[in-house]
Amino acid sequence: DTGGAAFHSADLGIIGGSGLYSLEGLSDITEVELKTPYGDPSGPLILGTVGDRRIAFVPRHGRGHVISPSKIPARANIYALKALGVSEVISVSAVGSLRGDFTPGDMVILDQLIDRTRGVRPASFFGDGMVAHVSLADPYCGRLRPVLERVAAAVHPTVHEAGTYCCIEGPQFSTRAESELYRSWGMDVIGMTALPEARLAREAELCYVGLALVTDYDCWHPRHDSVDAQSVAEVMAANISAAQKVLLGFTQETHPSQCNCHRALDNAIMTDRQAWQGA
Ligand code: ADE
Repeated sequence: DTGGAAFHSADLGIIGGSGLYSLEGLSDITEVELKTPYGDPSGPLILGTVGDRRIAFVPRHGRGHVISPSKIPARANIYALKALGVSEVISVSAVGSLRGDFTPGDMVILDQLIDRTRGVRPASFFGDGMVAHVSLADPYCGRLRPVLERVAAAVHPTVHEAGTYCCIEGPQFSTRAESELYRSWGMDVIGMTALPEARLAREAELCYVGLALVTDYDCWHPRHDSVDAQSVAEVMAANISAAQKVLLGFTQETHPSQCNCHRALDNAIMTDRQAWQGA
C-alpha cells in the first residue's frame, strides 16, 4: 500500500532540517498526507513544481519543529519519497563545527558519516524475513555531490567540498570531552539527524546528498560560547535564504539518470530467494 502516493508523483525529494520548513519558489503546491507501512512521515509532504521538476518536500522535524531527532520517522519519510517516485534526495541539516576552519555560516557538502547514535532508531528496511547488506562505503551520491558543490559555490562564499558528519543521539548537545574526542578522531561536523536517514536512502536505492549549514563550534572552541539551541536557530535564520538559493539551483541542475545508487541492492541480498518466496 502506498498510502495514496500513486495519485501523486515527484522526482526530487528535499528533506529540510532545523530552520528549513518549506522550499521557496515552488508552484502548483499540494500537501499530501501519506501512510506507510512504517507509520506516518514527519508531516504532510509538500509537493510542487520548479521549472520542469516535481519536488516533494519533507519537514524532518514536523510542522512547528515538534519531533526530536530520536523520534524522526526516517523509514516513513524515505518510504514516502520512494513511493512518490523520487529518485534523488537532498538532505539539509544544521551542524556544529569540529574544526577551526569551518566557521558558522559555512556550507559543507557532506561526504562521510560516523554513527554515534545509540541504536534506538530503526535503521533498516530489512531484517524481517529478508536480509540485505548494502554498501555504505560512500554514503553520499558521487554523481550528485559535485553538482551540489558547484551550485553552492555559485551562491555562497564559503563552501567546503567535503566533510565527515558525526551523528550523535542527542537531544542533548555533547560534553566537552566528547567534542574533543570527535575532533581527535578527525570528524568535521556534528549533528543529530543524518543517520539513519542516509542508510535508509541507500537501501531504497535513492541518490542522496547532504548539504550541511554550520551554525556553531559545538563546545570545544576556547574563544566561542558553547552551542545552544537559540544560537543554532539564529544562525540558521541568517543563512536560510542562501540555502534556499542552493536548493532552487540544485533542482534545476540535476536530472535523474543512471547511477550506482539505483543498483544498491543488486549484490546485497543474503536471503535465499526461493526460501523467502516459499515462506
Ligand atoms: N546541530 C547544530 N549544531 C549542533 C551541535 N553542536 N551538536 C549537535 N547537533 C547540532
